[in-house]
Amino acid sequence: MEGRRVGLRPLADSDAEALFDAVSSSREGLKRRLRWVPAVGGAEDERRFIADAAARAAARTAVVWGIFENRTGRLAGVISLVGMEDAERAQGRFGAWVRTDRQDRGFAVEAGRLAIEFAFRRAGLHRVHARLDPANRPFRKVLKKLGLRYEGCLRSDRRLNGRWVDQECWGLLRSEWKP
Ligand SMILES: CC(C)(COP(=O)(O)OP(=O)(O)OC[C@H]1O[C@@H](n2cnc3c(N)ncnc32)[C@H](O)[C@@H]1OP(=O)(O)O)[C@@H](O)C(=O)NCCC(=O)NCCS
Repeated sequence: MEGRRVGLRPLADSDAEALFDAVSSSREGLKRRLRWVPAVGGAEDERRFIADAAARAAARTAVVWGIFENRTGRLAGVISLVGMEDAERAQGRFGAWVRTDRQDRGFAVEAGRLAIEFAFRRAGLHRVHARLDPANRPFRKVLKKLGLRYEGCLRSDRRLNGRWVDQECWGLLRSEWKP
């Protein structure tokens, strides 16, 4: 899927080194928000992640794309829709990260628009939702720009870096989506 500045495609085994490089170069920033970061120790871990993502895509339970910068062809981050197991509910949970040296260029918003278009036009989802750490101001901005709405807050819902943190729930229904 092609946007103006970024394109999305599923990650391949050959992306493992670039993925590890992206995580390594952004480790401090990502670790503040994402629980899995400390467990990534080498490209082998990324190979396993990519294989798992392919299996989940084949089972139609999740879609994970690399965000590739059109100008350079380089991997700028990862975006995903997960939790699509229950076909009756037809929902997907949206998440994304962008390598630190490529942030604040609108890449997450552009990639998010492509992912949401896929969710509603191709995957037939009824609702896209996201969980937000209230301290994560950039991600709140991304969700707002993508048209998701605040729905409520789960108090002390998850443990991150040794602290219990709230999780805001945000959602977008297909019926209110403006392509
Ligand atoms: C959240 C994240 C994916 C956004 O990626 P990005 O490509 O930088 O996002 P965009 O450039 O499309 O939009 C970010 C917006 O937040 C704004 N922003 C950045 N830092 C900010 C801050 N401290 N306070 C308020 N707004 C901020 C940017 O200015 C931009 O808004 P603008 O377009 O109006 O200028 C990125 O910050 C990231 O990878 N964070 C760590 C992982 C994470 O938290 N992921 C979300 C949970 S899954």
